[in-house]
Amino acid sequence: MDIARRALQESGMRILSGVQSSGRLHVGNYYGAIRQFVKLQDEGEALYFIANLHALTSLRDGKRARELTFETAVAFLALGVDPSRSVLFRQSDVPEVLELYWILGTVVPKANLERAHSYKDKVAKEIPPDFGLFAYPVLMAADILLYDTDVVPVGKDQKQHLEFAEDWATKLNVAYVPGYDPNDQAKKPGLLKLPAARIQDETAVIPGIDGQKMSKSYGNTIDLFGELKPIEKAIMSIKTDSTPPDAPKPTENQPLYDLLKVMLGPADFAAVDARWRSSGDPKTHGYGAFKKELVAAYHATFDGPRRRYDELMADRDEVERILTQGAQRARAMAAPVITRIREAVGIPPATW
Ligand code: ADP
Ligand code: TRP
Repeated sequence: MDIARRALQESGMRILSGVQSSGRLHVGNYYGAIRQFVKLQDEGEALYFIANLHALTSLRDGKRARELTFETAVAFLALGVDPSRSVLFRQSDVPEVLELYWILGTVVPKANLERAHSYKDKVAKEIPPDFGLFAYPVLMAADILLYDTDVVPVGKDQKQHLEFAEDWATKLNVAYVPGYDPNDQAKKPGLLKLPAARIQDETAVIPGIDGQKMSKSYGNTIDLFGELKPIEKAIMSIKTDSTPPDAPKPTENQPLYDLLKVMLGPADFAAVDARWRSSGDPKTHGYGAFKKELVAAYHATFDGPRRRYDELMADRDEVERILTQGAQRARAMAAPVITRIREAVGIPPATW
């Protein structure tokens, strides 16, 4: 390990995040979450996982679940998660998370779960309100708390889950650590470390091609991997208004404008922005021209990762090796925390 890397790990900031393997990854996942994961690898000790247990709340097909777990791992690697700089693992490979999930659940107020946005949204979409969906935030909190996490990079939609994790960790600390004071943690350390969310404002919500939040459940995504034709077609069908091609375009509620902004980056966007706001030749000022520029930006950003994705998909053993090694490292990090928790709540040390 080089000196810079060692210094980083000794600085001790632990970063953790996960993405559910419940469908194909899209541009919103990349700009809202995965791009930050890649950057943060150099700011601390990073753990990233594929939330394949969470995915079971929406997938009822073992073969598909297994394949999506694998594809999500490959996507992480292709997009720049580097197993020599971070720990990449499958959630289900660390069984301790299910232990903490249960123990934590004993202090979780049912009313918190009833007002969880994710739960309410899914029930509103007529997804059956089963226990897995209801308990989803508890497993997510266990994911975070099991590794003494400091920082959790996520999209804005996960903010409430992070607040819950912090509240419930505090509850468990108060219940089991006499003299624990959440407002003065220096006085007495808790059993569980309180985590903080890291949400990037400018890319907090990436719009889909219809202008709603891009989400696999809304069918409005621009996918990162898979066949190109439908992806380009999706970009060319981004919703626009009826402003004439040669006229200046409005900038509010324009998914095309917002996507150009994130995907081009500040330097290249400036020129596009100037053209967007001015009148001129329909060939360069019409929505069609802007869409073509977005297609080009998509290629410039994702052609490299797409090649790498195809290579890794053909090298399954290597991906398995990375995941197995990641799980071993993650379990080693979880061990002191679960030992501490077992002892405090009065469960004998594990014999397995
Ligand atoms: P989906 O909404 O498609 O089901 P997930 O809930 O699996 O996506 O999200 C995985 C990660 O990507 C989360 O951290 C989430 O905040 C982020 N994310 C998903 N969609 C977007 C979006 N449209 N804009 C910003 N971030 C997003
Ligand atoms: N709920 C997250 C999502 O929908 C996935 C997730 C599960 C997660 N556990 C986590 C994210 C822990 C951050 C930390 O994408």
